Amino acid sequence: MARQSTRAAWTVVLTLDGLGKLHQQVERALREAVRSGRVSSGTVLPPSRELAAQLGCSRWAVTQAYGQLVTEGYLATRVGSGTWVSWSGSSRPPVRRTSTAGVPTYRFDLAPGAPDLRAFPRTRWAEAARAASRTIPTAGLGYPDEQGYLPLRELMSDYLQRSRGAIVTADDVVIRSGVSASVRQLCTGLRATGIDRIAVEDPGWTRLRAVIESAGVRTEPVPVDQHGLDVERLARRDDLRAVLVTAAHQFPTGVVLAPQRRLELIEWARRHGGVILEDDYDAEFRYDRSPVGTLQGMAPEHVVLLGSVSKTLSPAIGIGWLVAQGRLRELLERSSGHGPSTLDQATFAELMAAGAYDRHLRAMQRRYKRRRDQLLAAVRRELPTWTIGGAAAGLHLTLTHPASLDTARLTVAARDAGTRIVPLAAYRIHANGSDNGIVLGYGNIADNEVAPAIQSLATAFASAATSA
Ligand SMILES: Cc1ncc(COP(=O)(O)O)c(C=O)c1O
Repeated sequence: MARQSTRAAWTVVLTLDGLGKLHQQVERALREAVRSGRVSSGTVLPPSRELAAQLGCSRWAVTQAYGQLVTEGYLATRVGSGTWVSWSGSSRPPVRRTSTAGVPTYRFDLAPGAPDLRAFPRTRWAEAARAASRTIPTAGLGYPDEQGYLPLRELMSDYLQRSRGAIVTADDVVIRSGVSASVRQLCTGLRATGIDRIAVEDPGWTRLRAVIESAGVRTEPVPVDQHGLDVERLARRDDLRAVLVTAAHQFPTGVVLAPQRRLELIEWARRHGGVILEDDYDAEFRYDRSPVGTLQGMAPEHVVLLGSVSKTLSPAIGIGWLVAQGRLRELLERSSGHGPSTLDQATFAELMAAGAYDRHLRAMQRRYKRRRDQLLAAVRRELPTWTIGGAAAGLHLTLTHPASLDTARLTVAARDAGTRIVPLAAYRIHANGSDNGIVLGYGNIADNEVAPAIQSLATAFASAATSA
């Protein structure tokens, strides 16, 4: 790109990603533009004041970014001559990147999964990491305790008792890198004890099914209705002695396992010596009343409780826990697994001990509730013929339509309009002809994008309907 100085050109070339501090955003955008060749060697950059005005940030943010990139060798500067690009792609080996060709980019991403990554408590985490490095005992820097860092297990057992109604001591807690890692290890344990199939909810989380299958355990679908897992259907299968269930907030339908079903499920486990894996993935966030307590708290001898920070902080941390006691421990003794880095566990322990984790959860609960309310209002306004489901908890909800609709087609129409959604059918094992539903995740969309995203969805749906 030749010498660019027009106002429009720089705002097109540099897109700020909205993550972290502004000077870091400017720095990343500039570095990427230089590396990709969109801004070529020799290009004179605008004066910091001018670029700041164009990008809508402070002049300080731009001078900081320029300074950093001068240090890194991408830019050069001389008094009186300004700042220019001094790096040409050929002066260093190109950075290898995973190809993103063909991967659609979205203006609004409403796929369920991510929590609000903008709200990650970066400063608190950094402070906790620093405190952990200072205070971790020397012994803690040796080979890790396979069960997990004891101070974290103690804090976690206290947290799970008070916030999830679990029956647990630090000795029952095992730290792993997430729900998926825990399930993988438990499945190996199930196989070692002669259990080679497990009932899973249909629909359910596709990734966890893949994890189970890759551990050599067959998944057997059991339908979910408006009361959650159909326990009667489970009980009819006398070859099944293990089940994976999202009791507090079913994924993806969002329904809560009804009180009667909870009792029936526990009764099933008692009668069959069954094992219940309770995936408690986003139960912290409940908006109409306090979160529903865990099944584990009703029958700790039959239920392994599973959770992680993937929804509460970020999936990038890779910390999760499982609670297993009594005979359930045999599943772990007959399999192997390991926890995340002890220093990361110690960091999380610091965050919890300082009360910052609880404060973060409270703040996120308020934030998600506000966003969910905005979403409900936008859906009622823009998509009034759709029925909202599963909105009382978690970070996603469902929309279903009474008429027979081709949701795959609507998903493509939404994608073409720049909005990502997932049809409910994508989570099914057995296709269900009456599946007129879509799943909308609102964890990681900015508040001010909610209304335009739903407007764009409504327009895309309407045009798909008229062109059908
Ligand atoms: C149903 C369900 N279970 C569990 C998890 C968390 O899994 P992990 O802790 O392996 O990230 C998620 C995350 O999206 C989920 O959707």
